[in-house]
Amino acid sequence: MGFKEIILHNAEVLELIRASEKCLDVMNYTEHGLRHAMYVARVTEKILKRLNYGDETAELGFVAGFMHDTGNSINRNHHGLLSATLAYGILKELGMPFRDINTITAAIGNHEEETGTPVNPVSAALIIADKSDAHRTRVTQNYDPKDIHDRVNHAIKKNAVYINPEKKTISSRIYMNSTSSVMEYFEIYLPRIVMSEKAAKLLECIFKLYINDVLINSPKDVKNMVVDDAEELT
Ligand SMILES: [Fe+2]
Ligand SMILES: [Fe+2]
Repeated sequence: MGFKEIILHNAEVLELIRASEKCLDVMNYTEHGLRHAMYVARVTEKILKRLNYGDETAELGFVAGFMHDTGNSINRNHHGLLSATLAYGILKELGMPFRDINTITAAIGNHEEETGTPVNPVSAALIIADKSDAHRTRVTQNYDPKDIHDRVNHAIKKNAVYINPEKKTISSRIYMNSTSSVMEYFEIYLPRIVMSEKAAKLLECIFKLYINDVLINSPKDVKNMVVDDAEELT
């Protein structure tokens, strides 16, 4: 059994995810449970695979993605650092090689926009995956229309990340309705977009954000590559 399967069935990790979800639910945060962990794990793995980082690195990405928010079970503040510390102990006990543990803990410990920065390919892919997860299903049953986070997330009916390895583009596509607005989306998510652009650069790609099929950011040319809006969705 590989570490991906081991971690998916590890009672300690699953309990930490459940505990994190409970804590953030009390604080009225958006959903941070198993769905978010699986989404981030899968998208991180997909980005690394599609960009040819190899199956081993992609698996580290999956593990990092699955465990990245477990520190919320201790405190929301600096939860990236707490999650990384928890992951270190668990992965060491499971016998993962130290070099791989360090790749994962660096990625997890750098995923928050307040304290982190992309430091390796796993870290960069994790940041893009995590920041792309804005969706109405993340709004809990305590939906408050006066809360801007609830309004923005509730407005997003579809989100997806597309990777084009030939054109070296990573595109986040969001479809939102008029419950909120693009302006409000940026009011809360601008630092995440900036961090995703930085992360894509580490992966030698261009990050493009589309809202309702309109290109929103102005990605800078990386290695003289031309930005082509008519990219294939993959
Ligand atoms: Fe987080
Ligand atoms: Fe997260």
